[in-house]
Amino acid sequence: MPIYHRLGNIPQRKHVVFKSETGAYYWEELYSTLGFAGIYSTLYHVSAPTRTNELREIQGPRVEEWVDAPIQAYHFFTHRAAQGGDLISARKVFLFNDDVTLATASFTELDARFYRNASADEILFVHEGSGELHTEYGVLPFRQGDYVVIPRGVMYRLEQVSPANRFFIIESNHPIETPHRFRNEFGQMLEHAPYCERDIRRPEYRAPIQDNQPATLVLKRRGRYFEYELDHHPFDVVGWDGYLYPWALSIHDYMPIVGKIHQPPPVHQVFQAAQFVVCNFVPRLYDWHEGAIPAPYFHQNVDSDEVLYYVEGNFMSRKGIESGSITLHPGDVPHGPQPGKIEESVGKKEVYEYAVMVDTFKPLKIARLVESVMDPHYYKSWLT
Ligand SMILES: [Fe+2]
Repeated sequence: MPIYHRLGNIPQRKHVVFKSETGAYYWEELYSTLGFAGIYSTLYHVSAPTRTNELREIQGPRVEEWVDAPIQAYHFFTHRAAQGGDLISARKVFLFNDDVTLATASFTELDARFYRNASADEILFVHEGSGELHTEYGVLPFRQGDYVVIPRGVMYRLEQVSPANRFFIIESNHPIETPHRFRNEFGQMLEHAPYCERDIRRPEYRAPIQDNQPATLVLKRRGRYFEYELDHHPFDVVGWDGYLYPWALSIHDYMPIVGKIHQPPPVHQVFQAAQFVVCNFVPRLYDWHEGAIPAPYFHQNVDSDEVLYYVEGNFMSRKGIESGSITLHPGDVPHGPQPGKIEESVGKKEVYEYAVMVDTFKPLKIARLVESVMDPHYYKSWLT
């Protein structure tokens, strides 16, 4: 996140001796992207972050691809898939490609292990529930409607998570960024942006935890999982500063852009990555031209697969949608409002809906799981 942030106790100068009051060294760690050319943060640890007793590979969840899935429009119900599990096993992957993985999760068995996704930035969209993201950078409380953005490599644990919880999870193999169109060359959000730095929530300070009890870290990289047994608590940072850290943004703080006639999805963008964008649809006033059709026109973007995760409300262009539904409209197939939805939207003043959209620039693969929770007749839903 391109806002400088600083917490705790750090020395005035980098790369110099920094000690506790008792004379013990603090250990400097650079957490960096793009080699030494991207954004970074510098952390100061009580224990060297490399101190590892043991490590072993463990079996992680495998995603089975539905290899011969038809090329068609899909509607499936994520909440009808089996629920529950720990920070890793609870994730039910529905769609994926080399750039992005889309999953949902309801966590029921959060344990004491720490987790680090070394391959992907993660966005945890909080559909339901609340809790706290604990990291080396401090604590980030979250609640319903938050996007919790966790850059790759950040070690974390979820704590105080409400028993009723539901997440839509976007794992990106490229950095999650604010949209280019909404920021200037220095990274500052522009005046026409639908959110700004004031909406960005950064970690809160938590005193370093200093104990020498072994701690288990689950490290994920390129689909393989390893358990590292550290000889100390990893959240032992006395201070840090920089631009790279987890942050949160609420969908409720997103100020939608509206127009006299229908505005295209890019005005609703909230994040970008190298090979996909994330937009969101929030309650907003409708178009006010006397002949305006607020519902979208039929369209196909041949270079994008379009995924919509439906959160809450009355979805203006779709029938039969439930909270937790996902629609996938592949770039190869036209789509648009279902019968009656265009006429229904004319003359309406506003819409109440929350949905998160992921448009990928390369085709998505479909997990076998989709077959068991999909509406098999969705592709015919434009007939009646
Ligand atoms: Fe669309």
